[in-house]
Amino acid sequence: MRSIVCEDWGGPEKLVLKDIDPPSLGAGQVRLKVSVAAITFVDLLMPRGKYQIKPDLPFTPGSHAAGDVIEVADDVTNIKVGDRVYGFAAWGALADEMIVDESACFVLPNNVNNEVGAAYGNGYATSLYALRDRGKLQPGETLLVHGAAGGVGLAAVDLGRAMGARVIATARGAEKASVLRTYGVEAVIDYTDGPFKDQVNVLTDGAGADVIYDPVGGDVFDQSLRCINWDGRLLVIGFAGGTIPQAPANLPLLKSCSIVGVSLGGYRQRDPTAVRDMHGILLSWIAEGRIRPRVAARFPVAETIEALQAMENRETIGRVIVTFD
Ligand SMILES: NC(=O)c1ccc[n+]([C@@H]2O[C@H](COP(=O)([O-])OP(=O)(O)OC[C@H]3O[C@@H](n4cnc5c(N)ncnc54)[C@H](OP(=O)(O)O)[C@@H]3O)[C@@H](O)[C@H]2O)c1
Repeated sequence: MRSIVCEDWGGPEKLVLKDIDPPSLGAGQVRLKVSVAAITFVDLLMPRGKYQIKPDLPFTPGSHAAGDVIEVADDVTNIKVGDRVYGFAAWGALADEMIVDESACFVLPNNVNNEVGAAYGNGYATSLYALRDRGKLQPGETLLVHGAAGGVGLAAVDLGRAMGARVIATARGAEKASVLRTYGVEAVIDYTDGPFKDQVNVLTDGAGADVIYDPVGGDVFDQSLRCINWDGRLLVIGFAGGTIPQAPANLPLLKSCSIVGVSLGGYRQRDPTAVRDMHGILLSWIAEGRIRPRVAARFPVAETIEALQAMENRETIGRVIVTFD
């Protein structure tokens, strides 16, 4: 089968496309004929050896895919050959065939195509867990989303609006701003124009945002503590900017606000049933048109390096996908 292979630690340019043997199927697992795989930030970190999970070399990167089930282990009960599914795994998605645990496999509704099926999982599951369970976002509250045109950011914008929040976003450039407005964002702040905290305070009549979703870190996190409302929740999603911030404890004290960690992977390990339920909710909302996962760009598998570089260059809006059909 065709597979993207990481043979040596490094950036996207080190990855190769080659023919390898299909992976073997274990108990409780299903084999997917991959139609579409989604690229996520993990696919920039893991091949560099900079992610918390470090597979032995060589390995096939990619964690999210959609396609048809072509084989199931004897003990699999809820998924059958012929089902069209979304599946995730720690790695292995950027190949013609992927092995997924039955528990990480979800049958796609008829009106949800493979592109959206592959694209929604990472960002929307992270953001629903973050906003609903960790941030306790309430209708009418102000949600500030950073990196709002990115894979997890745009999902947070979309879900925040669907949950009845007033959404403010930060992102670079006019194109990202215009797409974000089509997702119901009230104001888009370009953080290359200067500090965003003052604009957030003006937009909220001095109160600050109730919930702040931060996948960027560094200075973005620091400024967020200076434009958060009393009793606000600052959600620590990630450090796409590369700097892990340090919080001065006097600021949460003064605002009676919380800095709240979010780990979807940890939640999945501790409460897999809750995460399965979340995917059920998300897929029904997508099928109903209540939320709209956005495909940023499509690349054939032979151009996977370009797909990764497009994301790394911060050119993309939503989720980049790689196609195998
Ligand atoms: N906590 C969890 O459970 C969880 C789950 C999934 C992902 N994450 C984390 O969330 C973060 C974002 O993931 P993603 O898939 O949304 O990535 P992405 O699609 O690349 O989006 C990241 C966004 O961050 C902004 N950004 C600001 N500074 C950046 C920099 N120096 N380099 C790259 N981007 C920068 C970019 O927007 P502008 O160009 O507009 O500034 C970009 O759109 C990652 O750190 C990832 O590990 C966490």
